[in-house]
Order: sequence, then C-alpha cells, then structure tokens
Amino acid sequence: MKIGILTSGGDCPGLNAVIRGVVLRGTTSHDLEFVGIRDGWRGVVDGDFFPLTRHEVKGLARSGGTILGTSRTNPYDGPRGGAQNVAKNLERHRVDGIIAIGGEGTLAAGNRLYNDGINVIGVPKTIDNDLRATDYSFGFDTAVNIATDAMDRLRTTGESHQRCMVAEVMGRHVGWIALHSSMAAGAHSLCIPEVPMTIDEICNQVTKAHDRGRAPLVVVSEGFTLKGMVEAYSDKGLDAFNRPRLGGISEVLAPEIERITGIETRATVLGHIQRGGSPSAFDRVLATRLGLHAADAVVDGAWGRMVALRGTDIVRVPFADALGELNTVPLERYQEAAALFG
Ligand code: F6P
Repeated sequence: MKIGILTSGGDCPGLNAVIRGVVLRGTTSHDLEFVGIRDGWRGVVDGDFFPLTRHEVKGLARSGGTILGTSRTNPYDGPRGGAQNVAKNLERHRVDGIIAIGGEGTLAAGNRLYNDGINVIGVPKTIDNDLRATDYSFGFDTAVNIATDAMDRLRTTGESHQRCMVAEVMGRHVGWIALHSSMAAGAHSLCIPEVPMTIDEICNQVTKAHDRGRAPLVVVSEGFTLKGMVEAYSDKGLDAFNRPRLGGISEVLAPEIERITGIETRATVLGHIQRGGSPSAFDRVLATRLGLHAADAVVDGAWGRMVALRGTDIVRVPFADALGELNTVPLERYQEAAALFG
C-alpha cells in the first residue's frame, strides 16, 4: 500500500518527528510505501508528491518545522479542488490513502474528504492545545518551555528597573500556553480568552505585586478580550481563512496599566518564536508515538479516525470527536492558578 503524508495549517515543533515515526513504523514493521505531499492540501490538489523513504526521515525527531512544507489551502477550493479530483489525483499516483497532520481546519477537511470516499487518517497538531479529542497535542510543551524561558528573562530585566512586564503568548481561542507558562514563570496576572477581565482587575493584581516590592509580570493570550470588547484585538488584517490575524493586545494593555498604576510598563509579543526551533523531549516522544500509531492505523484500515493521547495511551478517535467544540481552559484551572496572582 502507498500512503501520502501531509502537514497542513500553521507549523508546530514535532511535525518532523511524526513523519519519521510514520515512515519508520510503516517500512520496518509493515510493508508500506510513502510519498511526501508538499505544502499540505495544496500538494494533494496539484499532485505534488515525492518519494519518502527511511533515508529522507533520518535524524528528524529533533528538527523543527516540517520537511513537507505547509499551507492553509482548502482541498475543496479552486478548479482542481473537490473529492472527485483529489481521488483522480491519488489514483494517478497510485496513492491509497493520506495521513494528514494538522489542526482543526485540516482535520475538518480530512473528515469531509473521508465522507466523500477518500482514505484519510488524522494526526492532531496545534501549539494552542485547543483540540478536545486529545489530552495534549505535540508542540504545546515546546511552546510553553519557550514562553517560560522568555518570561524568566523578562522578570530579570523587569526587576532591575522595577517595571511591570506584559508578556503576550499565542492562543487564538484558548489560554493553555498562557496558563502553563504563567504558572511556571510565577506571573502576577493571567489574561486568557476564557476569562475576560477589566483593566482595573489587572491593575489591582499589578499594584499588589508592586507594593510587595515585586516587578509585576502580566501574561496575556493573544485572544484575550477586556470585558466589553466584542472580539479579540487585531490590526493585521485577515489570514487565508478570513480570520483576523491576532497579536498586539499586550501593546494595548501596557500603556493603560502604566497610566492607571503609575508603574512603568513594557510589552513583549513572543509571536512565532513559540513555534520555531527544536521540539522539547516530551513533544519528540509524543509526536513519534502518534506517528508510529498512525502507521498501525493505516494497516488496520482505521480510516476516518485520528490518533490521540488519552492519559498515557495513544488511542483512535473519529474525526468528528475532534471537531466543533474546542478544548478550552476550565474555570477550575484558572481559579486554581489564581491563588498565585496579585
Ligand atoms: O493555531 C496556532 C497559531 O499559532 C495561533 O496561536 C495563531 O493565532 C496562529 O496560529 C498564527 O497563524 P499564522 O502563522 O498564520 O500567523
């Protein structure tokens, strides 16, 4: 059997480790052959495939980015899109099925193609950790480590100047990166999309920390809204899915915090630094395991499913379970962390 592998949507540390896991398991334990598909669904639509052997995946567990390239293409868009055309393309290259590594948009497209008769298996990916069918997604741990390291650095310079530092992390709809990195770095205020706050509530926490002689650290997710804001802050236009490109809420908060508290305040947007570079050891292991199990799922004909982490086990779940509702930070997790704020 010949299987195509693609990575789609925003990249994420650990994508290459998944690819390596799939190819090693598929070629050494099973009799599978692989092709790499360039730039996500774009490569499926254009038939942009290349042979992927053990040789191409050597040493990949530790490398960031994706050797396959990625895009935010929808396989149903354009004159060459649609399930019929995709099926013809796969047939022409004798490809029997696809392993699609991606987030919600990728899995939704994979589910639609599966319902239209294409063999697809999914592997969940997102640094935001917002997919509800998996306990953790690879890339998240790396992003949290990068953010925590950056916050440790912000704290030392903040302390030297007795400044308030506002660190903005990714997290379009959910505050997992902010929650974990803020707890790890010992932040004094946490602003996440799930819990809108007023600027006065943030300033109270900042002032309390400052009054104890601390240099306050405020951690904010890019998708955070102040109470009364109707949508997340965006001044960078729309992305390929017509969603507002986020980033910059910290630069709105910092001058307000300074004005209200009188404490000199600086903002830092961590942005794509959180998605670049080598995956953490945790993410290498998780991504590799997902890859190994995705190859097994192919052999078992478990099409229309994705591999996911449940506790410490890798399980198979229907695509539909991963779609729709997001894995948001439960209020109890925010309240638990709140004991550390102020
Ligand atoms: O979904 C992951 C993510 O990193 C979000 O946190 C962020 O809003 C988005 O991707 C950024 O996407 P892009 O790389 O297209 O700017």
